Amino acid sequence: MSVAKKEYKRITVKTLVDMKANGEKISMLTAYDYTMAKIVDGSGVDVILVGDSASNVMAGHETTLPITLDQMIYHASSVVRAVERALVVVDLPFGSYQSDPKEALRSAIRIMKESGGHAVKLEGGKEVKESIKRILNAGIPVMGHLGLTPQSIYKFGTYTVRAKEEQEAIQLKQDALMLEKAGCFAIVLEKIPAKLAKEVAKSVSIPIIGIGAGNGVDGQVLVLHDMIGMTHEFHPRFLRRYMNLYEDMTSSISQYVDDVKTEDFPNDDEQY
Ligand code: KIV
Repeated sequence: MSVAKKEYKRITVKTLVDMKANGEKISMLTAYDYTMAKIVDGSGVDVILVGDSASNVMAGHETTLPITLDQMIYHASSVVRAVERALVVVDLPFGSYQSDPKEALRSAIRIMKESGGHAVKLEGGKEVKESIKRILNAGIPVMGHLGLTPQSIYKFGTYTVRAKEEQEAIQLKQDALMLEKAGCFAIVLEKIPAKLAKEVAKSVSIPIIGIGAGNGVDGQVLVLHDMIGMTHEFHPRFLRRYMNLYEDMTSSISQYVDDVKTEDFPNDDEQY
């Protein structure tokens, strides 16, 4: 069982940097609604990410691109109402920060003001440097995201492992250093070789949180619905399923349908 959840009353961006310095691994999971966030927070997860993966998981879109800033704020505010301990990081959705730093700042301010989230995350390296600086200057903590950045899926053309080629690996290392220098408090590295992720984690003093990036980094993140097995058609190598909720829920719900049809439910004790 986690000891960490007993030790910290409230996780802040500084707690995370201290955790790295002390060699304590950071746990991060997504959540998009009040009920799930309450369970995740109560289980001692350090960081809750209101990811734009809500676009896939909650809304059924094929990619993360369609979700809007208003929808992210709705999800994030539901999560914030549930959370007492974890740091809540909210994704800036596609189209809310790429065109210019002023727009990026406006979007980040809306997230902080309207949802009550504690930090924002955005995807990319040198191309978003000025936006990151602008957001940080307004006092808003920023988490970076490099490697497989799903908002660029149409540029990549595939969800396979990134930075296997030397040139892309070099660029990723430079981007990680740049994000640290700009003032990001942590970086997510998604789906890159474990050796490269470990090298990056060693080269910076801010935490590196991996998803499909091996165990040489400072923490791990998974999409909640994948790790509890509510989704069942997604089988990447990096995913460990801790439950099989898809099957459990399907059989329970089928049982309920049968019980209603056979008039087994409600019984005498279940009525007034
Ligand atoms: O949106 C998301 O869930 C993410 C994680 C996969 C890191 O960005």
